[in-house]
Order: sequence, then structure tokens, then C-alpha cells
Amino acid sequence: MHQVQAIADGIYWIGVNDFVTNRFENIIPIPEGVSYNSYFIDDEKTAVVDTVDALVMDGFLDNVEYLLRGRPLDYIIVNHMEPDHSSSLLTLAERHPEAKLAGSAQALRMFEQFFHRPMKDRYVTTGEKMTLPLGRRTLRFFSAPMVHWPEVTFTYVEEQQVLFSADAFGCFGVLKGSVFADELDYAKQYEDGARRYYTCIVSKYGPQVLAAMKKVSAVPVSCIAPLHGPVFRTEEDIGRILADTARWAKWEPEVKGAAIFYTSVYGNTAAAAQSFAWKLRERGVASVEVMDLCKTDAAYAMAEVMRYSHLVFASTTYNMGLYPLMRHFLTMMGEHLVKDRRIALIGNSSWAPNIAGKVMKELTDTWKDCSLIGEPVHILSAPGPKEEAALDALADAVAADLQAGK
Ligand SMILES: Cc1cc2nc3c(=O)[nH]c(=O)nc-3n(C[C@H](O)[C@H](O)[C@H](O)COP(=O)(O)O)c2cc1C
Ligand SMILES: [Fe+2]
Ligand SMILES: [Fe+2]
Repeated sequence: MHQVQAIADGIYWIGVNDFVTNRFENIIPIPEGVSYNSYFIDDEKTAVVDTVDALVMDGFLDNVEYLLRGRPLDYIIVNHMEPDHSSSLLTLAERHPEAKLAGSAQALRMFEQFFHRPMKDRYVTTGEKMTLPLGRRTLRFFSAPMVHWPEVTFTYVEEQQVLFSADAFGCFGVLKGSVFADELDYAKQYEDGARRYYTCIVSKYGPQVLAAMKKVSAVPVSCIAPLHGPVFRTEEDIGRILADTARWAKWEPEVKGAAIFYTSVYGNTAAAAQSFAWKLRERGVASVEVMDLCKTDAAYAMAEVMRYSHLVFASTTYNMGLYPLMRHFLTMMGEHLVKDRRIALIGNSSWAPNIAGKVMKELTDTWKDCSLIGEPVHILSAPGPKEEAALDALADAVAADLQAGK
């Protein structure tokens, strides 16, 4: 059964929703699902722009055949070789031996790496100096290296100002009856998914994202068609996703406030973290978030790191080290090159010195332009009067730092 939607005259979304995959990249939970977007250009020459995950290939192949109506497929444009967009590429290429494969030199190399079925006589190596005429339309290419992977290209339809932006401007969440952000209540239903997607998938590559955005700012864009999530066509929606992405790429916090992340075995560190939230409120901090990393997946917590200016980490010591879920979270954030945050630490231990606090400090010390506020608090087993006083002092320091507009 086919399911297609025109996104511009002669250009169609031919993607597929994935309701089945539990974890994107086998690590990030996606209870709201995800879409793999692919596009079809109907011109004198026909073209498919990227494919979909093989898990949901059947619907996609039906869409291609429906729009081809028995005509040959002239081009398969390969903007991104990551398997969520390419694991059905070989099947499509074998079904349509007449189609040329157009991609960056590195994308075409990766095609051979993944499939071990070279098709050298069918390759068209794209680059920024070339255009690919389809008839009434002309395709241009902008290389966007490391906007997730090194081989990535954005493809642009000159006459209609449509930008196929690969993984940039993408989002978790299946599409519901339309592909357009303006028909899907994007702000309510997708913006959080876009932040989580950006933070978990792309945030390590902020400078490369900004470089690619700068390149495409040289051309007018009236429609952005990413590989996941809604298509943007109104000025408002295009403006919002560009502004959101630029802000995230610079790690500019959206909220002046504190997000408290904790791990606790028996609830004592949790009690300290909860108490700290109240202390911040009492000191006039308007935005406070509290997250239990033992209950909430790191992916959701990472998105809150993107949102908040001030981060408080509270953890127990565990087998002479930092509690594993806190270590995992801080390691992930470090690997994603989080920067420009103010940090406060609360560690708990019962017999060793504050190992949790020490390891959290070592991990966060490596983060760029991040600085520690106040004295890290050491809780001996459970917060008592001495610890309460130390938490008060730390809350004073965090609140003062926020009030000073840091
Ligand atoms: C399995 C396990 C291992 C622990 N290992 C250490 C340790 O090596 N050194 C230490 O000082 N405390 C250790 N603790 C104590 C915790 O750091 C913490 O003080 C205690 O669990 C109370 O805090 P909580 O209620 O937040 O879990 C351990 C606790 C557990 C449950
Ligand atoms: Fe990707
Ligand atoms: Fe992707």
C-alpha cells in the first residue's frame, strides 16, 4: 500500500514511520517512534532522494513504484549512508538497474563498504561545483561533513528552493497524517523530540552544523525536508528550526535555571537532591528541574542539559567509584562536547572519602568553558545538620550565580 504526500509541485515525501524500533541507534529510547523520510522528484528525469531503514522497506518500495508508474528511475541521490537511510538502498538499486547512484565520493565508497556490491559504472560523484539537471529542475549539492557522518550532502532544488537537509533539522516522533510541521502542531508535539534528537545525535558536531547552515544561507530556502520528522515550509516554522538548531549548535542554554540530576541507591542522595531543589526555589530560582537518572533514561536528561544554564549533579559512591548511571550520563555528555555550563556537585559516601564527588569533578573538569560553583557538598551516608548547612551554602552560591546573570 502506498502512502505519499506532495511537499512541493512534483516533489513527494515517500518515507515510512517506524513504530517498532525501541531504541534509535540501539541506545536512545523512542517511545514516540521515528520516521525515515525519503523523497521523490517527478521530472523529465526521476529521482529518489535517500531511502529508508530496511526494517520498514516494503512501504517505501511501494511508494517508489506508485510514483514511477512504470517509468524508469533515473537517479538515486545518496545524501547520507547511515543505514537508517540506506539499508534499503541496495534493494532499490537492484530493482532499478537503470538508476544512477549520485552521492559524494565518500558516500559512494561507503556504499561499497556496507554492501560489497560495487556498481562503479552507475556512480555520479556529486560536488559543490556541479549541478544535476532533471528537466525543469536542477539539483545543487552542499557538502555537510560531520552533520552526523563525514559523507553527508545537502541537496537543493534550485527552482523550488527545496532543501533536502539529511539528518540536520530532524526530529524523533512518527508523522501523523501529514508531513508538514504546520499541520502537526510542531511546538507541542515535536520540538522536545527535536531537542532530544539534536542533543543525542548531532550535538558533538555543533561547529560543523553551523558551517553547513552558513553555506545554505547563501541560497533562498522555502522548504526544508529533513530525513526524520516534519517538513518545514512556513516562514515561522523554517525560522524556528533554524533558530533552535543554531542555538543548540552553540550550546546556548534556553533556560536560566538549574537542572538537578541524581543517582541514589537507598534514597539519601535523592533526599539531598530534592531538598536542594526546594532550597533553590526559596532563594528565588524560578526554573528548577529534578531528574532521577536511575528512572529516567540519559537521553532525556541530556536534552535538559541542553536547556538549562546551571547543572547540579548528585550521586552516591558505588564500589569505590562513581555510581554507574551517573558515570554513563557524564561520560555521554563529555563525549557530546557539552560546553558553557555552570556546575555544582553533591557526592555521597559512607566509608571512603567523597569518591563520587571526586570522579564527577574529574569528568566535568574536562568540559569546555564549564566552571564549578561553590564548594562541592559531601554527604556522609545521609544528610544531617552539617550536610544541610553545606547544601544551604551551595544553594546560596548557585542562586547568587543565577541572579548575577551568569
Ligand atoms: C553496592 C554499594 C556499594 C557501595 N560502595 C561504596 C564505596 O565503595 N565507598 C563508599 O564510601 N560508599 C559506598 N556505598 C555507600 C553509598 O555511597 C551511599 O553512601 C549509600 O548508598 C547511601 O546513599 P543513597 O541512599 O543515596 O544510596 C555503597 C553502597 C552500595 C549500595
Ligand atoms: Fe545519521
Ligand atoms: Fe538519520
